[in-house]
Amino acid sequence: MDALRWGLLGTAQITRRLIPAIRANRRSVLTAVGSRDASRAEAYARQWGIPHAHDGYARVLDNPAVDAVYISLPNSMHAEWTLAAIDAGKHVLCEKPLVLDPEDVDRIAHKAQTRAVTVSEAMMYRHEPLTARAVRFAREHAVGPPRSISAGFTYQQSRAPDVRLDPALGGGSLWDIGCYAVSYARLLAGEEPEEVFGWAQWTPSGVDESFTGLMRFPSGVVATIHSGFRTAYRTWVELAGEDGVMRVPNPFKPGTREDIELQRQDVARRVAVEGSLELFVREVADFVASVQDGRDPVVSLTESQGNAAALQALHESARMGKPVSVRQRGAPPLA
Ligand SMILES: NC(=O)c1ccc[n+]([C@@H]2O[C@H](COP(=O)([O-])OP(=O)(O)OC[C@H]3O[C@@H](n4cnc5c(N)ncnc54)[C@H](OP(=O)(O)O)[C@@H]3O)[C@@H](O)[C@H]2O)c1
Repeated sequence: MDALRWGLLGTAQITRRLIPAIRANRRSVLTAVGSRDASRAEAYARQWGIPHAHDGYARVLDNPAVDAVYISLPNSMHAEWTLAAIDAGKHVLCEKPLVLDPEDVDRIAHKAQTRAVTVSEAMMYRHEPLTARAVRFAREHAVGPPRSISAGFTYQQSRAPDVRLDPALGGGSLWDIGCYAVSYARLLAGEEPEEVFGWAQWTPSGVDESFTGLMRFPSGVVATIHSGFRTAYRTWVELAGEDGVMRVPNPFKPGTREDIELQRQDVARRVAVEGSLELFVREVADFVASVQDGRDPVVSLTESQGNAAALQALHESARMGKPVSVRQRGAPPLA
């Protein structure tokens, strides 16, 4: 089968990490890049040796030499450009969060099915063997039946201006990195939360610079999630079970070898898991396999919708100052 021909929408910082991963994939070739600014597209194409530079994202979608697009635009633009790409018959790997409104996933799923294209949210940690091992431990009750989960991601957000600080672009720490904590907690719980409570610290511009959330799952498992832009870099995932605790100290950007710590009563053990030589390589490989081999994407649209529903409910709760049922998706926007 011919190599999958990729086009990039935008010249985002993160794209520098995806380009080597696309090029490391023997069934992929990078063909095009589009930017709001034609000269930026041309400079970027020269810098990275990309054959086609386009003035605007729509031109990438019009290019018949592009089979799939990688979308790394500001969060508020993900749903719109995913839908436009599907209309143009392109497969889509879209950065997290795929949508800010879970109902947009219904539109995306319907169109993707009609046009027979693959759409998947770029949630890199989901492709790593470390994650699969931690999930297996949870399912096997390695620390007993699960009772509570804690997951978080913080770092010092020092870029300014930055898309993460603009509420109109889907900014804020919850959408940016809290999405990972919520995703991992749902994955370990193996179910969707019923009710959430959120508490945020807001910037004057109106985005959350830190977010703490509680999620209650139908089985009785509870999860605490945290994200923040004003705390030193730290990531963590912990699952407390009836008999002990499982810790994943480096869950979201695993290195070539990472430990999972399992503590049952007085016995502690570390299980080493081999990772990837380069991050994003497995994400690209899994996406190409779903397009070319017809495999289900690792991150399904149902999974993305569940994450967006939980995130949206957490936001709503923080704004209202009271718990929110995750099913209240059709609630009117808050003033
Ligand atoms: N998976 C990961 O590990 C990871 C890491 C970082 C970021 N991300 C995700 O990737 C996306 C981009 O993040 P980033 O930090 O790389 O962003 P960024 O460097 O600010 O890039 C965003 C790009 O979007 C385009 N754009 C269109 N309208 C814009 C506007 N009004 N303001 C600013 N840029 C606009 C710009 O490209 P042109 O000007 O060329 O059109 C810009 O280069 C986000 O969704 C983020 O969540 C993922």
